Amino acid sequence: MIKASDFGPDFLWGVAGAAAQVEGAALEYGKGPSIWDTFSAKNGKIKKGNKLAIACDFYHKYVEDIALVKFLGFKVFRFSIAWARILPFGNGGINQEGIRFYHNVIDECLSNGISPYVTLYHWDLPQALENEGGWTSFTINEAFNHFVRICAKEYGDKVKNWIVLNEPFGYTSLGYMLGVHAPGKTGLSNFFPAILHTALAQADGGKILRSEISNANIGTTYSCSEIIPNTQSDNDLLAAKRIDCLMNRLFVEPAQGLGFPTGDWDVLEKFQIEYGTWRLKERMKFDFDFIGLQNYFPLTIKYNAFIPVIQAWEVKAKTRKKPHTAMGWEVNADSFFNIIKQFAAYPNIKNIMITENGAAYHDKLVNDSIVDVERIEYFKLYLAALLRAKHEGINITGYMAWTLMDNFEWAEGFNARFGLVHTDFKTLKRTIKYSGYWWQEFLDN
Ligand code: BGC
Repeated sequence: MIKASDFGPDFLWGVAGAAAQVEGAALEYGKGPSIWDTFSAKNGKIKKGNKLAIACDFYHKYVEDIALVKFLGFKVFRFSIAWARILPFGNGGINQEGIRFYHNVIDECLSNGISPYVTLYHWDLPQALENEGGWTSFTINEAFNHFVRICAKEYGDKVKNWIVLNEPFGYTSLGYMLGVHAPGKTGLSNFFPAILHTALAQADGGKILRSEISNANIGTTYSCSEIIPNTQSDNDLLAAKRIDCLMNRLFVEPAQGLGFPTGDWDVLEKFQIEYGTWRLKERMKFDFDFIGLQNYFPLTIKYNAFIPVIQAWEVKAKTRKKPHTAMGWEVNADSFFNIIKQFAAYPNIKNIMITENGAAYHDKLVNDSIVDVERIEYFKLYLAALLRAKHEGINITGYMAWTLMDNFEWAEGFNARFGLVHTDFKTLKRTIKYSGYWWQEFLDN
C-alpha cells in the first residue's frame, strides 16, 4: 500500500479545475462571452443541451470550495483565469470586477495555506477575439500577450506558480480541426494556423511571465498518451508515429527549440514549408521551469487508408476488452509510466508535474453517499506507476488530481463526472465521494 509520504516531504499534492467548467456567472459581473458560451448555446453541440451559465457556481461558492480543497488535505489548487472576465472583449477595457474576483480566489487560497497554480488559458477564448479569427488569426498573439501582461502585473506579487496553456493539442484539434469543441471549426486550413499561433503564444507567454514576475515558477501543460501500435506491421508502426507527432510532440518540441516534429510526417513537413515555421524556431522556444503532463489514457493505433490525412484509427479499449472508464478511456497505469518516461527523455525538461489525471465513472448518489470504488482503484494504480517513475530518478515534483468536483465536461456537459466531490447540478450541493475521503486519508499518511 503506497503512502503520500513515499513521494517525499516536498512533493506537491493538488487538485485542478478550470474557469469555464466551474465558475458559472457566465455573462455576469462584467464578463464577456467566451467561445464556450456561444458554442454551448448552439443546438446539438453539448450532450443533453447542457449550458455552462451556472455550472458549479464556483463564482459564488469559491470560499466553500477552497475549504473543501483544504479539508481533503491538498496543498495546491490549480485554477484558470477566464480571459473574458478580465477583458470582456478580449482586448480593450479591463473589467475591474473580474480582476477583483481572482484576487479573492487567490487570497482565499493563501489564507488557507494552499498554493495557487494559475492557468492563463484553459480553452475559453473571448468570443470577440474568435470573431476576428481566434487562434487562426495572427492578431491573437498580440491579444494574448496583452492579457498575460495584465495578469502578471496584477497577481504576480502573490502568485508565483503559472501555467501558460492548458493542453494546446486539445483545443486546437478538437476546436479547430474536428469541430467538436468550441469554436467548432474544421479542417487543416484552420488547424495549421491555430497550432502555429498557439506554439508562439506558449513561448511568448512564458517570456512575459519571466520578465514581469520575480521568482516565478513557469510551466505549461500537455495532454499526452502513450501511442501503442496495434501490430508490429510497418503500416501500423508508421500510423502510430504520426499520431505520436500530433498528440505528444506537437507543442513540447517547439518549446524545446526543436521546431515542429516534421521529420516523421510529411503533412507537417508541408505545413512547415507553407507557413515558414522554421524562421520562428527561436521565438517558439522557452525554457520552462516545469512541464505539466496530463494523462488519462493510452491509444492503440492501427493504419487505416480511409481516414483522410492521418490514415490512422484508434482501436478502442472496449473493442479490445480492456478495462475502461465511463468515457471509454482505457485504464492502463503502465502507459502512464511509459509516457512520463517518454517526456523525461527530452534533455531540456528539468521538472515534471502531473497537472491532471483522473477518471469519470457512472457515480450514483445513494443515501447521500457515493461509493466510487473504481475511481479509488484507478488512483491507486496510477499513483503506484507514478512512484515507480519517481524511483527511476525522474524529477517529478507534484501531482494534481482532476478534479475537485463534478463539473461542465465540455462537449459531454454534466454527463461525465470526474470529481472527488459530487455536484448536484440542480441544487449545487457538494457531497464528498468515497474517493475524496480516500484522498484525505492518503494525504494524511
Ligand atoms: C482538460 C480538462 C478536462 C479533462 C477531462 C483535459 O483534457 O484539461 O479540462 O475536463 O481533460 O476530459
